[in-house]
Parts: sequence; structure tokens; C-alpha cells
Amino acid sequence: MIQVNDKYFESYLSEETISNRVSVLADNINNDYKNKNVVFIVILNGAFMFASDLIKKITIPCEVSFVKLSSYHGMQTTGRVDEVIGLNTSITGKDVVIIEDIVDTGITIGKVKKLLQSSQPASLSICTLLFKPEAFHGDIIPEIIGFSIPNDFVVGYGLDYDEKGRNLPCIYKIKAS
Ligand code: IMP
Ligand code: MG
Repeated sequence: MIQVNDKYFESYLSEETISNRVSVLADNINNDYKNKNVVFIVILNGAFMFASDLIKKITIPCEVSFVKLSSYHGMQTTGRVDEVIGLNTSITGKDVVIIEDIVDTGITIGKVKKLLQSSQPASLSICTLLFKPEAFHGDIIPEIIGFSIPNDFVVGYGLDYDEKGRNLPCIYKIKAS
């Protein structure tokens, strides 16, 4: 058990479990996107660790770009995405794969997708490490999912609880109190 800020968390997905699954996702992307013009757009901060491990296993030519949005505070999603900042590459006519840490309600990713769609990419898919089907109420289900998980708050491997816990090498879930 570990403590992050005022909450206790227990081990949930080990480094090995994550690494094995990330390899499978990378293999799928290498197959599905060969002969395409793939651009990975990594959503900071949460997806940094996942993206790093995933992209190391990508063997096809690709571009990598990073964007930032602000929509989340503490343990409640505010459901607001004001803008996508930092995209310094043209995605028009390219095959975009958005890399996200977690899709919870789906509000964030829905808005990001809409904003990027206006640049007219050839295709646009979402690759998320984690997906919470019970919390999801969007209309854009991620095409590439690492793990579907219960509706429990998780930290580690890039995911934070009030900005702490991102450095943990594996994923922990909140301990029922
Ligand atoms: P959504 O708009 O509700 O899908 O929320 C997506 C964002 O909320 C993610 O990019 C995360 O930053 C954050 N988030 C949602 N659930 C969790 C969680 O269990 N742990 C940490 N961050 C979370
Ligand atoms: Mg995030």
C-alpha cells in the first residue's frame, strides 16, 4: 500500500502487466499503420510514460508531437477542455493517433477529437492505456484500449492525484476506506 497526498492506494497493474500489454498495442499499431503517414499526438501530462514505452516499440516511420490541455482538477473531472496547445506539426492528410492515459467520462477525448478533426487528418484514432466503461458517457469509444478498468480512481505510470504520483512505475487504485 502507498500514500499519495491524503489517500491510500493499492497495487493494481504491475510493470510487467503494463509492459506486456503495451507490446501488444504497439504490434497492432505497427500492423494497422504500415504504409501510412502516422503522427502520434501525445496528450500531456498524463500520457507521457505510456507514450514513451509505446513509441519505443513502434517500428514504422512516424512523427511524434505533444499537446497539452487543461480540464481536470483533483479527483473530479470538470468536463472542460478549453484548447489544445502546442501542436507544432501539420496533421492535414495524415493518420493521427491520439495517445491518452485514461478515458473516463469521455468528455475530454471527445472535445480533443473535435478540435483536431478541423485540421482534416486522413484518419484520427484514439489510443488510451485505460478506459473506464462504467464512467464513460461519450460517443467516441477509443479504437485502441490497453485495459478496461472499473470505476475506481487510479494513479501512477503518468496518472496523477493532484499532480502527485505520476512517477510511480506501475498503476495503483484507490483503497476502499
Ligand atoms: P474524462 O474527460 O472524464 O474522460 O477525463 C479524462 C481525464 O481525467 C484524463 O485525461 C485524466 O487526466 C483524468 N482522470 C480520469 N480518471 C482518472 C483517474 O482515475 N486517475 C487519474 N486521472 C484521471
Ligand atoms: Mg490526462
